[in-house]
Amino acid sequence: MVDKKLSGQTALVTGANSGIGEGVAISLGEAGANVVVNYVSKPETAQAVVDKIKSFGSKAIALQADVSNEEQVISMFKQAIKEFGTIDILVNNAGLQKDAKFDEMTLSQWNIVMNVNLTGQFLCAREAIKEFMKRGPVPERSQALGKIICMSSVHELIPWAGHVNYASSKGAIRMFMQSLAQEYGDRKIRVNSICPGAIQTPINTDAWATPEALNSLMSLIPYNRIGQPSDIGKLAVFLASDDSDYITGASIFIDGGMTVFEGFATGG
Ligand code: BGC
Repeated sequence: MVDKKLSGQTALVTGANSGIGEGVAISLGEAGANVVVNYVSKPETAQAVVDKIKSFGSKAIALQADVSNEEQVISMFKQAIKEFGTIDILVNNAGLQKDAKFDEMTLSQWNIVMNVNLTGQFLCAREAIKEFMKRGPVPERSQALGKIICMSSVHELIPWAGHVNYASSKGAIRMFMQSLAQEYGDRKIRVNSICPGAIQTPINTDAWATPEALNSLMSLIPYNRIGQPSDIGKLAVFLASDDSDYITGASIFIDGGMTVFEGFATGG
């Protein structure tokens, strides 16, 4: 039987209708949390995630909002709080890639990545922190006033040619997360990042869809398998629960060893 260690808590997961966000929303729901499944397009996929979470006996609703739009974010939090009473856990997951060679990168490719990956995390974290402080502590639910999990990437550490906008946004998330952890630690708000490596999702189909691509990807992963959204979901449950009550300001890499630089196994 799955441990319902998040029961009674409410989580809002951005970009929760596909990929890592979907995996995280499902794991949090399975651990007993009420889940707000945020999406920006394809409502039917968000509904499928809601239905899956309900099948565990947890509550879930789908709410549409573009995380880079201030009004839409504010209104999403209002609706979520109206529905579930408060928010205990924010998973700042929504993110995208607009890859281009740097000398050909358009301002709009730069801006959309920054707006969603970085400004989106700012807008959602601000609403979550305001709600945590307004609600006040509920020790029987959690020792923390609230928990924020920022979806970062191995690319907050590993430079990435051809993806300068994306790597810059993830590098910025590291300072965003740590500065928030520093500013709100004394309020008992925990802020951490998950830094996934290659996880099999629609964002990186090119990296795994053919045997050749998958084989080349494996040369970067000592553990020799691609990650799954459920790998990230399990870590998100841990970071959202009191099992990690003494962890704040941490970037946790979950990457099959990508950040130990496999290329040096036989070189250097
Ligand atoms: C990117 C993926 C990539 C992975 C490892 C992630 O942050 O979104 O496209 O496969 O990092 O490089």
